[in-house]
Amino acid sequence: MPSKIAQIRLVSSHPQVYPPCDDSYALVDALLADRTKLLEHHPTICMEVGCGSGYVITSLALILGSESQNAYYFATDVNPDATKVTRETLEAHGVNAELLTTNIASGIEKRLSGMVDLMVINPPYVPTPEEEVGNSGISAAWAGGENGRSVIDKILPVADNLLSEKGWLYMLFLAENDPLQICLQMNKRGFGSKIVVQRSTEEETLHVIKFWRDPDIQIEENEGGSSGKTGPHRGWEFLMSQISRLSFRETRQ
Ligand SMILES: C[S@@+](CC[C@H](N)C(=O)[O-])C[C@H]1O[C@@H](n2cnc3c(N)ncnc32)[C@H](O)[C@@H]1O
Repeated sequence: MPSKIAQIRLVSSHPQVYPPCDDSYALVDALLADRTKLLEHHPTICMEVGCGSGYVITSLALILGSESQNAYYFATDVNPDATKVTRETLEAHGVNAELLTTNIASGIEKRLSGMVDLMVINPPYVPTPEEEVGNSGISAAWAGGENGRSVIDKILPVADNLLSEKGWLYMLFLAENDPLQICLQMNKRGFGSKIVVQRSTEEETLHVIKFWRDPDIQIEENEGGSSGKTGPHRGWEFLMSQISRLSFRETRQ
């Protein structure tokens, strides 16, 4: 499989489109690391938000390959040049996908609500002044606002809405985005999480985290909520139980 990934040809590029970089490679490496699980998962609807050059969604389609003939691909980007480059990358590799130039998933969120089995996202995560967020050119590739979280915090509830009962989300974060806090936030929405890839370069530490709906987490939260404990003691217990889940819990996911 890695040989096929290495064969991804960047047939098209544009000065306003983010080319594949270390973060793109980390996300694809996470998908490759989970290839067997992904094939057993049999995702029908797969989606990338923020597709850029198309490297990640094309890699995903090649990873799933002919063993997932029923898979249907969607990709969005706020940058019209990115959807154009992604179209050319996908076509060069014989992959069909529905592409949309839109903000996150506007325009398809209603249609795909609760239907997406697999989402992959390398969002704009770099901490920047808030004014830099919200463009649709190349700066949209990195401008993440305060703590790099402005766009991320808008994407997460949309992902929750789109993901099916068996839906999995692979999303890339920078250490400065406070991934633990993001996991706790997703935890409250009923998602389990684990780090699939962690990588440090001279400039940054990247985490690819996988999220899935975990009914046990919801039960635990309800139990905690009905215990009547409030305030710092309850908060501390909750945080510690979640940290042990995130760091040490063996999961089948
Ligand atoms: C870090 S780049 C990743 C590109 C590509 N997925 C990759 O990994 O190489 C982030 C991408 O998200 C897009 N993006 C930023 N904000 C967005 C939004 N609100 N909705 C959709 N796409 C967005 C950017 O235009 C950019 O292409």
